[in-house]
Amino acid sequence: MPSNAKIVISQFGGPDQLEILDSDIPSPQEGEVLVKVSYAGVNPIDVKTRAGLGWAAQHNKNNLPWTPGYDISGMIIKQGVGSHKFNLNDMVAGFIGFPLRGGGYSQYVCVPENELALVPEDISLKAAAAIPLAGQTAAQALEKAQIQSGETVVILAGAGGVGHIAIQIAVAAKTTVYATCSSDNIEYVNSLGATAIDYTKADYLKDIGQIDVLIDLVGGDVALQALNYLHPGSRVITVPTITASSICEQASQQGIIGVGMLVEPDVTQLEELVKLISAGMIKVEVEQVINYQDVSHAHKKIETGRARGKILLNMQS
Ligand SMILES: NC(=O)c1ccc[n+]([C@@H]2O[C@H](COP(=O)([O-])OP(=O)(O)OC[C@H]3O[C@@H](n4cnc5c(N)ncnc54)[C@H](OP(=O)(O)O)[C@@H]3O)[C@@H](O)[C@H]2O)c1
Repeated sequence: MPSNAKIVISQFGGPDQLEILDSDIPSPQEGEVLVKVSYAGVNPIDVKTRAGLGWAAQHNKNNLPWTPGYDISGMIIKQGVGSHKFNLNDMVAGFIGFPLRGGGYSQYVCVPENELALVPEDISLKAAAAIPLAGQTAAQALEKAQIQSGETVVILAGAGGVGHIAIQIAVAAKTTVYATCSSDNIEYVNSLGATAIDYTKADYLKDIGQIDVLIDLVGGDVALQALNYLHPGSRVITVPTITASSICEQASQQGIIGVGMLVEPDVTQLEELVKLISAGMIKVEVEQVINYQDVSHAHKKIETGRARGKILLNMQS
């Protein structure tokens, strides 16, 4: 019988805490399906949680050993009782088990079928694993900002997993989009329809003029400094949870509307994103696919803060 390799952390700490364990292939319970996972997306929240930082670590500290991973794509190979949404061999993707269950860094995982979206043939399983958490964060941040056609939107970290999708949604909504990135990513960010701003230059936000909405994907001092270029009544959605309260507090002192957020899995929204990818309206960038045996390398790459688009684990390598 084939075994099920999965990655677990038994205690919070560095990338060396990521261990590969062999376990039995699980059986789907009522309403669940068994997915043979092709790719698992690696998100900054996985890395922060592994390190014991942030919201998900707080909620998972009594839940170790734990298998990270909220983004998967793969094939349905078994259906539990009462599971009718899909057929065997369907390709699916999902933003699964958020925030407690996780489990995506597995070769086989049982998932409630209502957490999964069908992946049509014209979308690669790599793109499908890259989109769930980051794509929904981008969509929900822009929804919270209530962006309107004609407004000016600035996105901090336009080249990252969330940022590259947020740019494309904001451009499609007919806003004028500026997005910050390093000099290496200027051409890439411009190719998405934004005007790239090199954050390594001094005073890099000063020439934009009136900024209606700031989508902050960096947090901390970078976001606090960016608030100085907004005006009373501007809106900021600050996405990294660890610094959200200090940024919202500073925003409020400046008369800016500041809102933090925690992404909420929403399978209907995922299905819509899949349709947009299928229609060529969103292009998903996958910088690197790393074999699951090298998961610590994937976490180190995310920790550099320099990934372009997404990093995936190949779970069947
Ligand atoms: N609250 C929630 O529910 C939620 C959901 C998803 C993500 N998040 C958080 O949101 C943040 C972004 O997530 P992500 O998945 O997009 O991260 P990511 O993919 O790891 O972001 C990497 C990108 O950040 C850019 N970057 C690094 N420092 C920068 C700076 N000072 N200014 C501008 N860009 C900079 C890099 O661009 P260069 O290489 O060009 O420097 C790189 O492309 C993370 O903190 C994550 O934990 C929160």
